Amino acid sequence: MITVIGNLKGGCGKSTITFNLAVWLAVQGRHVICFDLDPQSTLSDVNEVRMEEGVAPELKIYRPDSNPTKIMRQHVGEVLVDVGASNLWAMRQAIAMADRVVVPVPPSQADVWSTARFRDIIAETVAGKKALPEICMFINRADTHPGMREAIETQDALRTLSGVTVMENRIFQRTAYRRSFSEGRAVFELGSDAKAAGEIIDLAKTLYPDADG
Ligand SMILES: Nc1ncnc2c1ncn2[C@@H]1O[C@H](COP(=O)(O)OP(=O)(O)OP(=O)(O)O)[C@@H](O)[C@H]1O
Ligand SMILES: [Mg+2]
Repeated sequence: MITVIGNLKGGCGKSTITFNLAVWLAVQGRHVICFDLDPQSTLSDVNEVRMEEGVAPELKIYRPDSNPTKIMRQHVGEVLVDVGASNLWAMRQAIAMADRVVVPVPPSQADVWSTARFRDIIAETVAGKKALPEICMFINRADTHPGMREAIETQDALRTLSGVTVMENRIFQRTAYRRSFSEGRAVFELGSDAKAAGEIIDLAKTLYPDADG
């Protein structure tokens, strides 16, 4: 299955989610490959740290110069694609091939607006195709303070968008996600934040119910 992790705004968590899902799939023994189609190369940089640290399992990350279209078509297993808005052409190419687009959304009005635009871009890109990709949205970077209502309000606003699935899963704003990058480990490999580990594993199990085990 080809899963694109995308949204228009920088910093919404595309690379964080791609990396953590990829490691989870690899740990489950799934044959997973990733494409880092963002010129910023965050995913490749994180993986470099992972390789330097000698953390297993290894991830296979392809860059834009790798003939992504051909490799994606031929791959048997899971494909994860991290796309940045700075390369809209690559983003559209990836969306056109996707079975599913997973969209992390920080809880704010500005993010609801830009996510609505992203939904329109997906719709334009796949218009006329026989099989349309599923669009799965969830809140990333939710405030851990119980009094903050932004995550609920953002979820409600996303539910008014047509043609999308709004997941119940919620990823909170936690330092473990930043450490995940600096140590080249998924949050469930760090062993320091059980809540972060639990919410990422829940997200992975929701997105890949067959891989759990
Ligand atoms: N749930 C979270 N809690 C805390 N920090 C987070 C969370 N999600 C992402 N971050 C941090 O926010 C920063 C941006 O995240 P990330 O690089 O994944 O976003 P992105 O959407 O890929 O950004 P870009 O569009 O620039 O590629 C990183 O430092 C990351 O560690
Ligand atoms: Mg990124």
